[in-house]
Formats: sequence, C-alpha cells, structure tokens
Amino acid sequence: MTANRPATGLPPNVFTLNYSPQLEALRGDFIFYTDRIIRLLVEEGLNHLPVIPKTVETPTGVQYEGVGFEGRICGVSILRAGEAMEAGLREVCRSVRIGKILIQRDEETAEAKLFYSKLPPDISSRYVLLLDPMLATGGSALKAVEVLKEHGVPEERIIFINLIASPEGLRTFCGKLPLLRVVTGWIDQGLNEKAYIIPGLGDFGERR
Ligand code: URA
Repeated sequence: MTANRPATGLPPNVFTLNYSPQLEALRGDFIFYTDRIIRLLVEEGLNHLPVIPKTVETPTGVQYEGVGFEGRICGVSILRAGEAMEAGLREVCRSVRIGKILIQRDEETAEAKLFYSKLPPDISSRYVLLLDPMLATGGSALKAVEVLKEHGVPEERIIFINLIASPEGLRTFCGKLPLLRVVTGWIDQGLNEKAYIIPGLGDFGERR
C-alpha cells in the first residue's frame, strides 16, 4: 500500500490511502470493515517512520543490507472514538504502549478542553501515532497535539492516523502543524451545521 497526496489543494503533510473501488466498497459495511481500514492506515503510518541501515544474515548465509526502524513508537488514542483504533494498532505492532487523552467541548466557551490524559512516561523519546477516526473541525486533534507537545513530543514525531477527514478540518489542523503528518483513509465533502462530516458516517461511537 502506498500513500497518495490528494490532488485537492490540501496541505502537503496530508497523505491518503490510494483511492480504489475496494476502499469505496469497504466504506459500505462500516463495523466490519473499519477494523480493516484502520489496519491499512496503521501500516501506512509506519511507512513515515525513519529507518537506518541494518545488515542481516539470511538462513542461506548471505548478508542482506536492509533497514531497521530508528526509533520507538507509542499510540495515543483520543477518547472515546480513538479507542476503537487501538486493536488495529496492536495487531500490527505487538505489545505497543498506548496512552489516552480525553477532550471534550466546554459548553460555555465552545473550546476543546482537556479532561484526562494518561501517557507513557517516556513519551518524549518516542514517535507517536495519534489515533482519532473522525477529523471534523480539528479542534480536539489540535488540543491533543498541544498536550503531547507539553509532554515534550516534538511536532515532527507525531503521525495523526485518521479514517475520515473534512477538508476544512485538515486545513485548520495542518495549517497550524506543518511538521506533523496526517495519514487519512478518506477526505469527505465537508461539514454540516452541527460540525458532522458529510456524507460521513454519522456518530462514529454510536455505530460501533
Ligand atoms: N465525530 C463523529 O463521530 N462524526 C463526525 O461526523 C464528526 C465527529
């Protein structure tokens, strides 16, 4: 699976899965197939990690000049929907550490507010796969990145893994975070007046 840069004038740090009839068909049967798409997204996210040369000797006794991952990773899910992506990450990266961030909208100020976070203590030395299936306005994701930065994670070590994004959310998010990378499965049409992605999937949490 190779990543695409969407030809829609979106920021250069947005990468999508290649469009295919298969991906289009997967969208139809949400619950079963989201797990499959999430796995594809995690695999694609791992392609953005730096590698260093590594020599291995194969069982034939021949030396092969390959590569190995340079750094350690962890996952951080933005609760609650992001939790649904944890299993997909674990399937690909066995015994990966996973932190959690709970952000909710403050009803008085309408601002995204941090309610809870539990992150690996050595997170500042890791690459972070930040998990949230729906990028609507980008408010929660921006807040989550703020929390990661406060814990010492540099922006360029964060890869945001996302199922469906709105173009306006991507512009806001990537406009403020040009060094972070977004790997998304699908860029939808836009947002409705309730800030739901359209055509979208409705409320992700309610469908699982
Ligand atoms: N969260 C969802 O679950 N769905 C949307 O469309 C936007 C945010």
